[in-house]
Amino acid sequence: MRALQYEAFGNPIDQVELVDVPKPQPKAGEVLLRLTHRAVNPADLLAIQGQYPILPDAFPAIPGGEAMGEIEALGEGVAGFEIGQRVVPLGGGGKWQESIVLSAEQIIPVPETVSSATAAQLIVNPVTVYVMMLEELDLKEGEWFLQTAAGSTLGRIAIQLAKLRGIKTVNIVRRREQIDELLALGGDAAFSTQDDNLLEQILEVTGGGVQGATDAVGGEMGLLALESLQHGGMLLSYGLLSGQSIPVDSVHMLFNEKSLKGFWLSAWFRRQPQAHINGVVTNVMTLMAQGQIVPPVEAEYDLADYAKAFEHMRTPGRSGKILLVG
Ligand SMILES: NC(=O)c1ccc[n+]([C@@H]2O[C@H](COP(=O)([O-])OP(=O)(O)OC[C@H]3O[C@@H](n4cnc5c(N)ncnc54)[C@H](OP(=O)(O)O)[C@@H]3O)[C@@H](O)[C@H]2O)c1
Repeated sequence: MRALQYEAFGNPIDQVELVDVPKPQPKAGEVLLRLTHRAVNPADLLAIQGQYPILPDAFPAIPGGEAMGEIEALGEGVAGFEIGQRVVPLGGGGKWQESIVLSAEQIIPVPETVSSATAAQLIVNPVTVYVMMLEELDLKEGEWFLQTAAGSTLGRIAIQLAKLRGIKTVNIVRRREQIDELLALGGDAAFSTQDDNLLEQILEVTGGGVQGATDAVGGEMGLLALESLQHGGMLLSYGLLSGQSIPVDSVHMLFNEKSLKGFWLSAWFRRQPQAHINGVVTNVMTLMAQGQIVPPVEAEYDLADYAKAFEHMRTPGRSGKILLVG
């Protein structure tokens, strides 16, 4: 069967290759899944470059953190699932291949109303948005939320969830063309980093600042998000797209009682009780089944066209996730 794999860290286009590997067989308690849709997330590409906190233990390694598939075979003793059923596999990497074997406890059934392209994005972005907005920032109806990199797949999901909960959003993007798109999606305000007097405009539209914010860019953008907080507000730093740290002014933080906290979904998964994780994942899947969270898709590429998919990932101005199919 076909698989994408790499044997050394480096540029994904140079390091990844399409290979033929033996198809695994399920043992007792396991299922064999035929994967059909796989998300290409920034973390997958960072891992191939050797720049992510979780890296493969050995080479060759098969990348890919999230996917969706159909049950192809059931190992001995597995009950409650049927051949052909669509499920989301949990667990670590190794999803950029045709079939995968894992424990029957590590699969989540996909409701009929959830498309495969949506199910393939269940965890990384939607769960991150849900936890950051509703648990870590604990935002309530009528409060303001600000996000940088708002045009990202994650940012668009955040707008959907905020709208559903009556949370008002300020969306910051680096290209003006995205402003109307994000307002049409339900954003309450959207600004570009090319705008003049950005902070003044944010403080004016929100009536003095936002209660909570998230930043995936770092550097001056992260600082703007901190400055946009009202007294006692919290900023979650969850990405470093600019490669720059946030130049924090601790005096401003101190007298305004603001907090800056990191958020990493992998760490959240490690510290939460399983029952709580299951509850959050179920809530997110329910919102997807109701059509209230629909992660956008920019393009689908066959596994063999991975280089085109990686090239597309580097193109600015995408409006959703790139998926590997087939
Ligand atoms: N901490 C966690 O647990 C966690 C979980 C999930 C995701 N993330 C992070 O969330 C971020 C978004 O993920 P995604 O899957 O939604 O990404 P995505 O769909 O690939 O979108 C990336 C976005 O980042 C913007 N961008 C890239 N470089 C930028 C820069 N230097 N300054 C400003 N904007 C920049 C792009 O803007 P253009 O449209 O202008 O190109 C694009 O909108 C990533 O950094 C990812 O690693 C973190």
